[in-house]
Amino acid sequence: MTVTESPASRAAEILSRPVALNGLTVPNRIAMAPMTRMFSPGGVPGEDVRSYYARRAAAGVGLIVTEGTYVGHDSAGQSDRVPRFHGEEQLAGWAEVAADVHAAGGTIVPQLWHIGMVRKQGEPPFADAPAVGPSGIRVDGTEGTGKAMTRRDLDDVIGAFADAARDAERIGFDGVELHGAHGYLLDQFLWAGTNRRTDAYGGDAVARTAFAAEIVAAVRAVVSPEFPVIFRYSQWKQEAYDARLAETPEELEAILAPLAAAGVDAFHASTRRYWVPEFDDSDLNLAGWTKKLTGKPAITVGSVGLDGDFLRAFAGEGAPVQGIDDLLDRLERDEFDMVAVGRALLQDPQWAAKVLGGRFDELTPYDAAALKTLS
Ligand SMILES: Cc1cc2nc3c(=O)[nH]c(=O)nc-3n(C[C@H](O)[C@H](O)[C@H](O)COP(=O)(O)O)c2cc1C
Repeated sequence: MTVTESPASRAAEILSRPVALNGLTVPNRIAMAPMTRMFSPGGVPGEDVRSYYARRAAAGVGLIVTEGTYVGHDSAGQSDRVPRFHGEEQLAGWAEVAADVHAAGGTIVPQLWHIGMVRKQGEPPFADAPAVGPSGIRVDGTEGTGKAMTRRDLDDVIGAFADAARDAERIGFDGVELHGAHGYLLDQFLWAGTNRRTDAYGGDAVARTAFAAEIVAAVRAVVSPEFPVIFRYSQWKQEAYDARLAETPEELEAILAPLAAAGVDAFHASTRRYWVPEFDDSDLNLAGWTKKLTGKPAITVGSVGLDGDFLRAFAGEGAPVQGIDDLLDRLERDEFDMVAVGRALLQDPQWAAKVLGGRFDELTPYDAAALKTLS
């Protein structure tokens, strides 16, 4: 940073740089993080969902990652208000979402989701489907009524992800993100706490990654070579915040390398605070390690723009470690390539425009009331 450069112009300059994810050029470095909203009755994203995403694209979000959307497998979800990525009406709704985001100047990928053993009571049309997972074990360690997946279940789910990815390309999306994070199905395979299998899908880290890698390969096989496949993963689980997939960079590499080899074009490393170093003896965060270990573009996430310190740093009143300067420094060092923003973008659809335009004084702190509407 030069002494004459203001935080505003520096933020605009660095965040406005385009970035390539395989064949897709994203116009800037700001992504919208995937956020389940449950505003799609019957699994169909309607006009309100369409304008919710398009509003953020029009205000400068370069890449929208949609809320998690269920793949076509009866056990994939449990709510009839979460959008589905299968079925004629549902896909027609999604095609309009993609078209509106494109018209607003943005790019968009659906986050393809299977919740696995997180499934509890299901609403129609899922009411009778069992919860399925690698070993029928929930993230909290209980067995409940879940079912360990058979060969046929594995093939059905692999096929469901591939079908959804093929449909995503067909109806105009710019890529796909596979939800491998937060203790849902793919993560249940990755994590030893939920994967006790003794076949080729359980055991060491490479074996636990085999199911997710087969999904990546199946997706890769049905989409164009330049169509980006993003893989989201996390150490933490929704029901176990302190859980970790990998204690060392070597353990992390054992998981990421097979996924990259299977065809992942970019990784989305989900953390709750992006500035926290992932391992000892290095400042790199999880996205930073991911990029270093795989050579693939990486997206970081976690509390960007949420707290008062971030806003004060924007206003030029010092630069705490989690402020904008630290984020920009990391982007400039190529620690990671993009920044995903979740709750701050729920709070304010204009967040990206304000940040890119240097209107930091117009940013407002996050209020959980933003969760209640699709404004
Ligand atoms: C209401 C809400 C819903 C979320 N739903 C999803 C989801 O469907 N898929 C996912 O991978 N992460 C989901 N997340 C996590 C976010 O993508 C993001 O990683 C998290 O909110 C941290 O980013 P933030 O601090 O900028 O909000 C959700 C978060 C929130 C607040």
